[in-house]
Amino acid sequence: MADNAEIKVDGKSFELPLVKGSENEIGIDISKLRGQSGVITLDPGFKNTGSTSSGITYLDGENGILRYRGYSIEELAEKSNFLEVSYLLVNGELPNKQQYENFESSIKKHTLIHEDVRKILEGFPSNAHPMGVLSSLVCSMTAFYPESLDPNRSWDAVNLSIARIMAKLPTMAAWAYKNEQGHPVNYPDNSLSYTENFLKMMFAVPAEDFEVDPVVADALDKLLILHADHEQNCSASTVRIVGSSHASLYASISAGINALWGPLHGGANQAVIEMLEDIKSDGGDVDKYIKKAKDKNDPFRLMGFGHRVYKNFDPRAKIIKKAADDVLERLGIQDPILEIAKGLEEVALNDEYFVEKKLYPNVDFYSGIIYRALGIPTKMFTVMFAIGRLPGWIAQWKEMRENKEPIGRPRQIYTGHTQRSYVDMSKR
Ligand code: MLT
Repeated sequence: MADNAEIKVDGKSFELPLVKGSENEIGIDISKLRGQSGVITLDPGFKNTGSTSSGITYLDGENGILRYRGYSIEELAEKSNFLEVSYLLVNGELPNKQQYENFESSIKKHTLIHEDVRKILEGFPSNAHPMGVLSSLVCSMTAFYPESLDPNRSWDAVNLSIARIMAKLPTMAAWAYKNEQGHPVNYPDNSLSYTENFLKMMFAVPAEDFEVDPVVADALDKLLILHADHEQNCSASTVRIVGSSHASLYASISAGINALWGPLHGGANQAVIEMLEDIKSDGGDVDKYIKKAKDKNDPFRLMGFGHRVYKNFDPRAKIIKKAADDVLERLGIQDPILEIAKGLEEVALNDEYFVEKKLYPNVDFYSGIIYRALGIPTKMFTVMFAIGRLPGWIAQWKEMRENKEPIGRPRQIYTGHTQRSYVDMSKR
């Protein structure tokens, strides 16, 4: 491989160093481009632009490969659990027995949230979307743990902040749900696993015994693993750029939650079910909606199909599809919405139009279906995505801080008015 790329601008040549990743990806390092040539690159949405070098997640969109710290998601989903994968993402290696026990106990120690958080929670109207509540409660952690405001304090202090947010996010998420339901909140049960504890806080009701269904807990744990990181996606990039100003971990994660909320990102799983419910309430005619999806003049868009990065299939979707089929069968769930989903899936996997446009069912399509089958309410789907993505956000923020990356501050090409003189319009 040559050492440099060469670009020509107005007849002048400039050489820019090439960089190669551990999976032989090639990048042009343009960090000195403007200084050398006076020009910048332009790439709205950063479709061709790397923001960093990272050792956390490898993603090959052409071949449908996704690995966390070198381990395939297929192996991790089958053999690991979400807490172990969280440790792997944040610390770079799988934990030995003692490290895992220490990590788990450091989290269990902090699953309670300050009782004053309930005053914040009660300030929200019951129709507040749980993602807005969650990002607010996470940001409130900067008030309850002011020492977290200084990310340069010490790595021990950062690790304490990491344990606190890993521990408290599920509690906050469950409390946001209970607030929306107008029901009393449940307190954490540290005798349970991370995922089981969340399910109990979500679904236990007073005066009734509650047992976590192992089928549900296992399926949810697998879902959380599959959502744990996805390299420089919109919300991870948000966490990095907020953290690059030396904002605290909690402020950065709160920003990441808000970025994830968008229907083009983490909100897609909620949008999938809402689309299926619209199709059902309109008679459930899948063919009618397939025609609408193909009609360029029709504003209807199929949610949960295709992906910005994966060109052939989303490897997570393959695993979740199987988990969804297992859960639906083992829980004996019959749901017309899910029948509509299967109809759309059948077409998307076989119809030439969808195959040619690579509009295959993605992770959001199947995760929306499985969350519904697990009894997770639709407005909580993106919250589930946030719980899963938390260790990835933490790992990305930590790596950016460890590498002492500069503050993120993109350039622009100005297209507005050239200089003009002031006119007093009040006299016009
Ligand atoms: C994700 O997992 O973050 C989504 O697939 C979006 C993305 O990677 O761009």
